[in-house]
Amino acid sequence: MSTQAPVLPNAVKDRKKVTTLTLRKMKQRGEPITMLTAYDYPTALAMDQSGVDIILVGDSLGMVVLGYPNTLPVTMEDMLHHCRAVSRGARNALLIGDMPFMSYQISAQEALRNAGRFLQEASMDAVKLEGGRERLEAVRAIVSAGIPVMGHIGLTPQSVNQIGGFRPQGREAAAARLLLEDALVLQEAGCFSLVLESLPTRLAALISQRVEIPTIGIGAGIGCDGQVLVTHDLLGLFERFTPKFVKKYADLHAEMRRSFSEYIQDVQERRFPGEEHSIEMPDEEWQRLMEGL
Ligand code: KIV
Repeated sequence: MSTQAPVLPNAVKDRKKVTTLTLRKMKQRGEPITMLTAYDYPTALAMDQSGVDIILVGDSLGMVVLGYPNTLPVTMEDMLHHCRAVSRGARNALLIGDMPFMSYQISAQEALRNAGRFLQEASMDAVKLEGGRERLEAVRAIVSAGIPVMGHIGLTPQSVNQIGGFRPQGREAAAARLLLEDALVLQEAGCFSLVLESLPTRLAALISQRVEIPTIGIGAGIGCDGQVLVTHDLLGLFERFTPKFVKKYADLHAEMRRSFSEYIQDVQERRFPGEEHSIEMPDEEWQRLMEGL
């Protein structure tokens, strides 16, 4: 195993904390924004040191870490636990906590109280919530308390039962128009950015041109202001299924299986631990022990 730290480009070493203002300026300059999900300390550390702009502690953790069939069972306590771990690993990226199902739908007041917990108890910089015009009151309440909100429209996984599965959205003109209107409503309500999930490339590009706030696409093509992927998909750690829009940069599931099998064989065949993994005591101490027995 190599223990050498990767050589980081100066731009990454010298970077300052990313803020919502940084992202707005990046959009104005036409610089692509990078976002990834993380759920634990070592992943956040590696990601932050690699120079990612935004780390989202997504409620996707319900599926890729906790093994649920969808994101609905994820609780505030689950989210806060993982957000705390991520915040201990990341220094520069903007940290966003994803508000779980039922933490913001009941009332604007409850939404505000739960959003506040992400900042107060888990060191997040901002929160994300799913939905369009129906979230207006919640977004306004949270933003009015000084908490930055990222919106999320298109395929909204917390509504999986209503939309009939994990399917692309906005493929008909009427639905596309509603999504464009939702983007404008969320911007008006004070969102600092929007996730556009599983939308036709042309529609996502149109929304990105029509709003001033940065859009971050997932399965929404090249015309967004930034891109996000679920890290477990990118790393090949989540085996259940891989959406069409994912680019796999590694196959860590296969790598884990290979490493675990090798370890099991090494132990079974007494190849591990070797001398280099073992602790010895000085001979004279051993002698003394033997004489005393
Ligand atoms: O929960 C999540 O990981 C997300 C991203 C897919 C944007 O919401």
